[in-house]
Amino acid sequence: MAAVGSAVGLGNIWRFPYICGKYGGGAFLLVYLCFAFGIGMVLMMSEFVIGRRSRHTPMRAFASLSPRRKGWRYIGLLGIVTCFFILSQYFVISGWTLSYFFDAVTGRLATMGQDAAAIGCYFTEFSTSASRPVVFLTVFALLTAVVILCGVQKGIEAVSKVLMPVLVVLLVVLCIRSLTLPGASRGLSYLFSPDFSKLSAEGVLAALGQAMFSLSVGMGVMIVYGSYIPASDDLFRTSMWITASDVLIAVLSGVAIFPAVFSCGLEPAGGPGLSYCVLPNVFNSMGGVTGVVFSAIFFLLLSIAALTSSISLLEALSAWLVETLRTRRFVSTLIIVAAEIALASIVSLSNGMWSHLQVGGDTFFDFVDRLNSIYLPPLCAFGTVLFFAWVMPEADVRDELTNHGVLRAVYYPVFRFIVRWLAPLALVVVFLTSILT
Ligand code: TRP
Repeated sequence: MAAVGSAVGLGNIWRFPYICGKYGGGAFLLVYLCFAFGIGMVLMMSEFVIGRRSRHTPMRAFASLSPRRKGWRYIGLLGIVTCFFILSQYFVISGWTLSYFFDAVTGRLATMGQDAAAIGCYFTEFSTSASRPVVFLTVFALLTAVVILCGVQKGIEAVSKVLMPVLVVLLVVLCIRSLTLPGASRGLSYLFSPDFSKLSAEGVLAALGQAMFSLSVGMGVMIVYGSYIPASDDLFRTSMWITASDVLIAVLSGVAIFPAVFSCGLEPAGGPGLSYCVLPNVFNSMGGVTGVVFSAIFFLLLSIAALTSSISLLEALSAWLVETLRTRRFVSTLIIVAAEIALASIVSLSNGMWSHLQVGGDTFFDFVDRLNSIYLPPLCAFGTVLFFAWVMPEADVRDELTNHGVLRAVYYPVFRFIVRWLAPLALVVVFLTSILT
């Protein structure tokens, strides 16, 4: 459940539906499913194997599984760096979400009515202002830290077991509301009817990138979670379950969002624009209390999704520091949270007051976004899969996947082929095309 919580995040709710519609609906979905199960899930299994076999966090995991070639531990370090940058950006957007949740509950969003310009202005004004986003990201970061400080079982596990079912219930409520609005079918056809002409090469690459991001693979987080998985669990079934839930929630988010958007005669927008500019309009069109209730539900849902993902990122970072500095969990968590709040504040301020803070012509926010989406995860995933398929002793891999010979891993030959050839090749193609174009 905790790993599902990690996988299900902002990526499922505001990123997936939009790119799915943009790149040909059903056609994209088909390619996405192949990548999610064919590559994303395989990478997840590899990370689980590395974590459970070594029972360490990424850096030490790599070192301990190939004692004679210690250099591989830098792949683990790359994972940690990736987590660090992703979490800083994640905190900023989670802070926005939390702030919108308050605006929804207090009725502030509702007072803007069905005025797209006013809502858009509010978002720009808010996200570029200095204090409010920083205050909310700090509150959100502290909330995440409290869960981590309660421990893996009493914190992460307990919170995930409660919040994930709540998330599903909220999502289903939104789906029902959305599907019963007049004209809902246009939204469904935008999302599902296959249009292969819109599925360009770019769309195929976007599908792979999204599948990896959505499953939280390629940054060592699943190595850390893998190290907590009991010896008797079947890693194949676990990964299958996580992947299926993640895909299902992404699709349900689309069903909750697009019929409602089209029914109000609005156009879907990408990324932050969808959740913070288009949707408030949709809720306001429902009028009065209904609109307030549904917008509160939506932003609560998004906050929960963001929280369980942030938890896994913070856990990976804090567990790494515990292992490296041999500090107590309390100390390491505080150090990481303080550093993240500082970095996230810079990221947030670079949207407004500090927009002159630029790296290579990008604002700092866009720079971190590029690092997180284009550079770091594919590199780290590539290193991980090379290590897993070519360096780690094959006997260990088999032993871990079969639980010391208890399970029959009939899928193994296909799995081996994917990790040795297909996944590395796909990652190289994605990486090269994204930096060259
Ligand atoms: N999977 C998360 C989402 O869909 C985002 C994410 C990417 C993530 N990498 C991660 C979350 C690592 C936790 C850990 O939004």
